[in-house]
This record gives sequence, structure tokens and C-alpha cells, in this order.
Amino acid sequence: METTVRQQYNQIAAVYDRVWSRYISKSLSFLKDWAQLTSTSSVLDVACGTGTFEHLVLLEQPTQPMIGIDLSENMLEIARQKCCAYPTVSFQRASVAALPFADRSFDVVVSASAFHYFDDPIVALIEMRRVLKPAGELVILDWCKDDWLCRLYDFVLKRFDPAHEQCYTQAEFHRFLNQTGFQIQRATRFRIGLAWELMISSAKPIGSSDRDQESV
Ligand SMILES: C[S@@+](CC[C@H](N)C(=O)[O-])C[C@H]1O[C@@H](n2cnc3c(N)ncnc32)[C@H](O)[C@@H]1O
Repeated sequence: METTVRQQYNQIAAVYDRVWSRYISKSLSFLKDWAQLTSTSSVLDVACGTGTFEHLVLLEQPTQPMIGIDLSENMLEIARQKCCAYPTVSFQRASVAALPFADRSFDVVVSASAFHYFDDPIVALIEMRRVLKPAGELVILDWCKDDWLCRLYDFVLKRFDPAHEQCYTQAEFHRFLNQTGFQIQRATRFRIGLAWELMISSAKPIGSSDRDQESV
């Protein structure tokens, strides 16, 4: 499945920003305002695409330490060009299922509009939790299957788009977070026009700070 996703995004990378401009700008502005990043926090953006989130953040906080990872080399190439003026950001090719970072590396892990592509949501969340610092924060934004239009997209895409994996309701998504050791801090749903209902949740790893103190 990851090969299919990679090939598909390699093919559409050159037009992705133009075709999805309104959706990208609205969803990622919402994510930026929601995440309220401190300018010194280290941020990992999982499935960063063309780096628009990084660019939005860096316009306001030009020394924000950020790493974006994605499966698609062509999406990453556009991200690198977009953010080339900012030395504190870098981009790497990697899968959410095997993040090339040490345990407890990041203050914040974000991911936008990609969760419905992940082969195994539990594996993805465990991996994101592994690279988060004990007091770190996970912020995930994705399509929300509570909306009937999203259920329709999911139905159609499952049949006609080989890269599409599965959309989730907010309750399903929150169950995954709880199963993988996260405590949900804040969550909401919002619309972009009539066509898209999105969900966003912030969560913190449960218990890892206690384990750290015990092991000192
Ligand atoms: C709809 S785009 C979203 C890009 C960006 N986050 C944004 O909001 O504009 C989905 C991205 O997820 C990436 N992706 C999908 N599955 C992935 C995986 N398993 N690991 C890393 N990236 C993945 C794709 O390559 C694509 O760039």
C-alpha cells in the first residue's frame, strides 16, 4: 500500500498545491492556530507533503526547529524548495511505520490529512508516541467519518483509489489514541465549506513521565 501512495503522490506533487489550495490553506492554518507552537519546541510533521505547514509556521517563527517526513520524494522536493530560506527545517523520506528517529526526540508531533492513508493506525500511533518526549504533544488532523459526505468519499475511494486505506469517526480515532497510551487533551470538529468535515485532536502520552522518574 505504501508503494501505491508514494507513486500516487509522486505523480500529483507538481499540481498538489494548486489543485488543493483552499483546502490546504484552511486546514493547515487551523492546525497552526490550534497547535500554538512555542518557538523553541522541536516539531515532527508526519506526512508533511509539500511543506506548507512548515512554511506557515516559519513565516511567523523563522527559527522553529522542524522536521517533515513523507513517503513521496516529489512532495518532499517541493517542501525543500518552499522552505529553503529556513535553516532550522529539514525534510526526509520515511514512513510513519518506521520513523528514523530516536525515542523521545520531539516536543510536538503533528500530522495533517494523512491518517486515512496509514496501513495500520495503531502501528502509526505507537511509532509517533515512541518519538515524542514524555511531556510532548501529539496533534492529528484528518477527515471525519461522522459526516455523511466523508462516509460517501470513503465508500467511493475504497473502490476506486488504490491508495486510500480507511476514514474514521472521531470516536474510532479517540479509541485508537486511548489504546496506544495517549490521553486526549482537546478535540473538535470543523468544516471547510460544505465538502469537508475535519477532526483535530491533541493528546499527551500517558504515564511515560512517571516511568522516566522511576528509571532515574
Ligand atoms: C493529503 S497529503 C497531506 C500533506 C500535508 N500534510 C498537507 O496537509 O498538505 C497526504 C500525504 O501523506 C503522505 N503519506 C501517506 N501515507 C504515509 C505514510 N505511511 N508515511 C509517511 N507519509 C505518508 C503522502 O505521501 C502525502 O504526501
